[in-house]
This record gives sequence, C-alpha cells and structure tokens, in this order.
Amino acid sequence: MKLWGGRFTKETNQLVHNFNASLSFDQKFYQEDVEGSIAHVTMLAAQGILSEEDKTAIINGLNGIHEDIASGKLIIDEEHEDIHSFIEAHLIERIGDAGKRLHTGRSRNDQVALDMKLYTRKQVLEMDELLKSLLQSLLKIMKENTETIMPGFTHLQKAQPITLAHHMGAYFEMFKRDRSRLHDLFERMNYCPLGSGALAGTTYPLDREATAQELHFSAPTLNSMDSVSDRDYLIDFSSAMSLIMMHLSRFCEEIILWNTNEYQYIEIDDSYSTGSSIMPQKKNPDIAELIRGKTGRVYGTLMSLLTTMKGLPLAYNKDMQEDKELVFDAIDTTKGCIVLFQGMLDTLTFRKDKMRASAEGGFTNATDAADYLVKHGVPFRDAHGIVGQLVLYCIERNLSLGEMSLEEFQAISPVFEEDIYEAISMETCVSKRNTIGAPGPDAMKEVIASYENYLQRNDA
Ligand code: ARG
Repeated sequence: MKLWGGRFTKETNQLVHNFNASLSFDQKFYQEDVEGSIAHVTMLAAQGILSEEDKTAIINGLNGIHEDIASGKLIIDEEHEDIHSFIEAHLIERIGDAGKRLHTGRSRNDQVALDMKLYTRKQVLEMDELLKSLLQSLLKIMKENTETIMPGFTHLQKAQPITLAHHMGAYFEMFKRDRSRLHDLFERMNYCPLGSGALAGTTYPLDREATAQELHFSAPTLNSMDSVSDRDYLIDFSSAMSLIMMHLSRFCEEIILWNTNEYQYIEIDDSYSTGSSIMPQKKNPDIAELIRGKTGRVYGTLMSLLTTMKGLPLAYNKDMQEDKELVFDAIDTTKGCIVLFQGMLDTLTFRKDKMRASAEGGFTNATDAADYLVKHGVPFRDAHGIVGQLVLYCIERNLSLGEMSLEEFQAISPVFEEDIYEAISMETCVSKRNTIGAPGPDAMKEVIASYENYLQRNDA
C-alpha cells in the first residue's frame, strides 16, 4: 500500500521505489512501531478523537500483526516502502475502516523518530548490562591477582612493577566511564517526539504528556521541528560505542601482544583461538584481532552520521533515513564484540611465572633503587645518575640489579647497605606504592571494595 497516491497521476518507477524504500532494514523495529501506535490510539480515544470501538479494533489488530510477524506467519515483503506503511496496510486489510483512522494526528516523521528512539533506548540498556557483566569478569580477575607481579610499561618499554589487578583495574575504569556515558545519553534522549506531526504539531487536541508517560519517557519534547529532525542521540550513542570499541581494541592489542611467544604472559583458550591452514604450529588470536578491526567500522558510523546531518535544513529530510543501517550495524557489532571479548577474557590463562620473570628482568626497580639512595641523603638527581651507572654495569654483565653483590653496589656508591636487596625486591616495589589508585595491594583492596559496591548498586 502507498500512503500518498492521491495527488499522483503516474506509478512510481520501480528503481525509485527500491531506492527510496527502507523496509528491508526498518523492519527491525516492527515491535516498537506497534508499541508507539498503541500508545497513540489509546491517547486519541482518551481525548475523544477516536471512538472506543475503533481503538479496541486497532489495538487488537496491531497486536495480531505483531504476533504474526514474530511467529513468522506474516512475512514482511518488499512491496511496501517502510515498516510503517507495511503495518498500516495490514491493519486496514484486517480490520477495515477503523485501521484507516490509526494515523490521525500523526506523521511518519514523528512516528519514525519515536520508533528509532524506542529501539535505541532498549539497546542502550542492553549494552549497559553487557558492560556490567564484563566489569564483573574484570573484578574477579582483579580480586585474584592483587599480588600477581608484572611489569608496567610506558612507551612499550618496561617501566615499573605493577600487579595484574592494577592493570585490569585500568580497564575497569574505562568500561565504568563507558557505562556512565550510556547513562548520560539515556537521560538526554529520553524525551518523546510523538505528537510532533510532520513538523508543526497538529490541530487535534493530542495529550502528549500522556503518550510520553505511557511510553516511559521523562516528558514530551518541546519543539516539534527539532523532534522530527533530531538525531543527536544517535550520534551520542555512536560516539559512546566508538569509545567502548576503542577500549576493547586497546585491550585486544595487549592480549595479542601478551599471547605472543615473546611475551607469553597469557594463553588464549583453544576455544577462543583459531589455527592456520598451512602452519600446523599456529594458534592465532583471531577474535582479539577481529574486535580490534571492527573498531574502524563503528567509528565509520559516527563519522558517517555526523556528515549526513551537517548540512540538513530544518526539519525532516529523507537523508535521515540513512541513520538506520549504520546505527543498527554499530549496535550489533559493539554488543557482539563485548560478548566475545568477555568470553575470551573469562577463559584465558595468566602465566604468572612469566609475568613475574619479565618484571624482574627489565630494571623495573631502578626508580626504587634511586629512592633508596634519596632516603639515605643522596640528592635525587645524583641518585638517578648512580642508578644509571648500575644499570649500565648490569647490562654489560647480563645481570639484574638484585643479582649484583653488595661489593659491586658499594663500588659504585658506598651508601648501599645490605638492606638494598629488600628495598628493590619486586614485592617491596609494589607493596610500598599505596597512594590512592596505585598498585600496592592495600590500596588495590580499597579500590576493589569500592568497585564491588558500585556493581551492587542498581543505578550503576
Ligand atoms: N523511512 C523513513 C525514514 O526512515 C520514514 C519517514 C518518512 N517520512 C517522509 N516524510 N518521507 O526516515
């Protein structure tokens, strides 16, 4: 069924129909379309714009259509332009004239704005749940590894010893911020555009407060032109998804590195690895690589939407139909990546021995050796120079600082005493770092307790 045949004298060119149609993708929100229409007719009847009989017939008809699409009994064919016309046509076919009254006081412009918002709102909540579950996995690893020593890096060079809990905690912070971004954008988007009409509201006495409440929005939107042409929330969401993907991608990059023969800090489980068709020894981190790769795709949605919107005059323009495929793809991609990532993380093995040996091997305690001298009265800049000499001495002899004899230490600086060994042990280096946010187990335990609290809160 066409919604607009009256003023036309010719049939639409088939290529034009195909190019214009959105049914192949907007059928994704058929449920939301029905939900929005039910709220609309309920309000129309309450306002005396529609009879109770028509309302009941429409609601029953819509529910029947919903059930039949869900069960596969009603196939969505390509004959219709979009999901709105598809559902309306089938309603009229099923209940006759009453069906023709559904669209009273409504335009597809406010209808599509509503449907997309309802769909997106649900997706924001689902994504938040997935992130929460990922945070639970991270917290579990943190709790088990407050004493697992590994090197921390800057410039991808070993820097200072940290713990695995501390490293995981950095990602906890990132995904926690991602959740807070989702919460923010949910609050900002949660205003109902229904009742805005094509762009200028309607002359019917619509109760927009009622439909907004019925559909669990905070309130109706306050400008009908903005209501039908606002896609900010999709850009907000794409931006939040881009950040989630960026965080996953950084994490994947580390997993890929740590899984190499050179690092051997972790082993990705067989169930999350793939093999090579030619090299029998290979076990590849394809899942981590794919997540890293798909990040570009989600960024693409953000750039694409920003570009589509930048030149649009008020109010609705058909360009806006381009929001759907992109955002649907970004949502499916991001959700899929979070789930796969969590599965990979839950099953991988941490090689604590390798992490520790790697921390021992890279002069990660050099700062602590300098701090030892400072505590014995040597100015920091001099201490820095002395430890630099120690490192050079060790490199030439393939030693770590802890492997030097006291005589060797004292030959470079007489300030060193027997307690230097204790002062530069990995345990001391980590456990003395107990400022808020530092890797020391005492500091970490407090942070872990606050994370536990955060995950238990329902609003978090
Ligand atoms: N499929 C359209 C979209 O996604 C629905 C709105 C159509 N409105 C119109 N004035 N042609 O944007």
